[in-house]
Amino acid sequence: MRKNIVAGNWKMNTTVPEGVALAKEVNQCLEGFKANCEVIICVPFTHLVPVCAVIDQQKLGLGAENCADHKSGAYTGEVSAPMVESTGATYVILGHSERRQYYGETAETLREKVALALASNLQPIFCIGEVLEEREKGTHFDVVRKQIIDGLFNLSAEDFGKVILAYEPVWAIGTGKTATADQAEEMHAFIRQCVADRYGKEVAENTSILYGGSCKPSNAAELFAKPDVDGGLIGGASLKAADFIGIVKAF
Ligand code: PGA
Repeated sequence: MRKNIVAGNWKMNTTVPEGVALAKEVNQCLEGFKANCEVIICVPFTHLVPVCAVIDQQKLGLGAENCADHKSGAYTGEVSAPMVESTGATYVILGHSERRQYYGETAETLREKVALALASNLQPIFCIGEVLEEREKGTHFDVVRKQIIDGLFNLSAEDFGKVILAYEPVWAIGTGKTATADQAEEMHAFIRQCVADRYGKEVAENTSILYGGSCKPSNAAELFAKPDVDGGLIGGASLKAADFIGIVKAF
């Protein structure tokens, strides 16, 4: 059966000492109880090595927030999947809406990134989600279906089985405006059906689909109670250990 997962996305926040302190705090909190879900933190590239050194990855998984669409070479400023793997991280967020919107990531580059991540034993946390205008026009299901098809459905069933999906309605990210639990469930069930249509019911049932967008301790339990919501990708609330752990405890 699929796993429940709570993953933090620190984005471009914290210096290295601040990030190490936060990771230590989260790790310490997790030592005190048995979480009913997998817990992951995705941190800036600069933080991967020092954070890896202070956490117990049996309890707290580590991921990057992106990787390059090339394996190596003359790509100044980029960080490749093998580099991320060499830090000790085992996850990578790909296709976050901020990457799509501000850095022009396309389905084509994302397919490359997914393939390179998998080749480096990194489990992609692949983000999809519509903008407000698309929801208002009623095209949100079509938009999300297309993002999954274009970004992932070239994969074999075996490789697809390694991917974690994150539905993040762009209008809910960092806005304090959460999708209702019913809105999230409706889209998650739709996404699972898309996966079933392509890979069959068993693969679909085993796929973890996380919700992201202003998820916090006060609304996590209601979202996670929905049958197709398998956890959360947490931005702002992952920057305070107490809030992040509060969300973990919603399971
Ligand atoms: P948020 O971000 O929780 O701050 O809305 C979620 C995300 O972008 O992953």
